[in-house]
Amino acid sequence: MKLVAGNWKMNGDRRGAQHLVESLIARRNAGAPACTVALCPPAQLLGLVGDLIAGQGLELGAQDCSDEAGPGAFTGEISAAMLADLRCRFVILGHSERRQRHQETDDLVARKTERALAAGLTPIVCVGESLAEREAGKAQEVVGRQIQGSLPPSAKGKPLVVAYEPIWAIGTGKTATPSDVEAMHGALRKMLIGLGFGANVRLLYGGSVKPANAKELMAVANVDGALVGGASLKAEEFWPIVQACA
Ligand code: PGA
Repeated sequence: MKLVAGNWKMNGDRRGAQHLVESLIARRNAGAPACTVALCPPAQLLGLVGDLIAGQGLELGAQDCSDEAGPGAFTGEISAAMLADLRCRFVILGHSERRQRHQETDDLVARKTERALAAGLTPIVCVGESLAEREAGKAQEVVGRQIQGSLPPSAKGKPLVVAYEPIWAIGTGKTATPSDVEAMHGALRKMLIGLGFGANVRLLYGGSVKPANAKELMAVANVDGALVGGASLKAEEFWPIVQACA
């Protein structure tokens, strides 16, 4: 089954989240989607959103976790076990905004991935090249390095999601063309099988996914769903993307 995950990033307060979640539940009750749907609100809303979606056929995801198992003296950190306690099923790791703004390395992402798996969460590990790297013809090389470095060997055979998000397509309105996506996802599939991760790793595309392009992107070979940023903040934009994922 495909997966559509909404990455709310640093958006939303309790009132807005309640409104958004209620609108999504109403849409879901009008017809169950043919894919798994996960909402990934910022940390302060995880408890509220988790309560609202309990039993409603929607899943909860977080946007990051600590590389420490804890509990312990790690100010500001949230452990994977704490996220599991909040009923999270997924956690986004190594998003390019964290790699760039917080200097997250492949090594750190691999440690977080191990923590997430140990806590029973399914990690959504993000990879993607910059525009300069793509223009230099290095997109697959860069993404291959990220994959190798960010997935710990212990993740083999475990539930795992990889999101390919070209940095130049995130929040820019620019989307990779279906043939770019097909080439990268085909290469990713090969790499993952070559590294021993098996053929069952779900590969999401992310970067300016919108109702207008979702159907075309979700039909591409080896695309098992979408990681959606901006368009996940409005039910009337997010739900058509979910429906495009049949
Ligand atoms: P976007 O973000 O859909 O707003 O481009 C995607 C993401 O960063 O996960």
